[in-house]
Amino acid sequence: MSATTGEIKRVTTHVIQAMKNRGEKIAMLTAYDFSMARILDEAGIDILLVGDSASNVMAGHETTLPITLDQMIYHAQSVVRAVHRAMVVVDMPFGSYQSNSEIALKSAIRIMKESGAHAVKLEGGSEVEESIRRILMAGIPVMGHLGLTPQSIYKFGTYTVRAKQDAEAQKLLEDARLLDDIGCFALVLEKIPAQLAKTVSESIEIPTIGIGAGQHTDGQVLVTHDMLGITKEFRPRFLRRYLELFDAIGEATKHYIADVKSRDFPNESEQY
Ligand code: KIV
Repeated sequence: MSATTGEIKRVTTHVIQAMKNRGEKIAMLTAYDFSMARILDEAGIDILLVGDSASNVMAGHETTLPITLDQMIYHAQSVVRAVHRAMVVVDMPFGSYQSNSEIALKSAIRIMKESGAHAVKLEGGSEVEESIRRILMAGIPVMGHLGLTPQSIYKFGTYTVRAKQDAEAQKLLEDARLLDDIGCFALVLEKIPAQLAKTVSESIEIPTIGIGAGQHTDGQVLVTHDMLGITKEFRPRFLRRYLELFDAIGEATKHYIADVKSRDFPNESEQY
């Protein structure tokens, strides 16, 4: 149960908006499997994102591009089975919405129907407006994603901070207003200057959820495997690590191996 929203039975888009309206920060983390989702939900997380970062942290790909719609639905189904309170948002993977709005709608419907999730997220602004409008018309809540959009990594060329120049910052602000106007329920802002994230958050009605976007967004999101220290080398400035699980799990594993080799495990009380 969360410290501040213990009485909420199920986090919905209305709950998320009410949190922004009363100035309560929104906490979001990624989840891709049943066991982790259960822990995060019981701890009181507001939103669980079945991120396409599963492509990196679960499957070991270099980018988010290879993960498929079927694979995202599999991850989402596992997360939904674990969750009692959090809102579950599923990333639409690369290729499932960019070609045209009909394909986008079909992909979003598959995610909602086959996984039981509560909303979808997709990357981009005016370029994907038609797709977002069509998904919204079908009654599916949409979370936007602007700034560093990892599905466009080969266009950007690097994972550095976006929208530092005026023209890109202006386009981002216009896209944020557009996504707000057409009915998205929230907006992820990834790796942009804190001052720009503040301006965006104050300029639109819907909540902003930042990652590497500073302290003024209405909520924060991290990749769970990064914040728990399961991923090892990834240490950008914005990442706060709450555990060093790579090392802790490694130590436990060495201990287990030693116990097996030395015949210490299993002992008499650990057998039938
Ligand atoms: O896929 C993901 O994990 C994300 C977050 C970084 C917002 O999109």
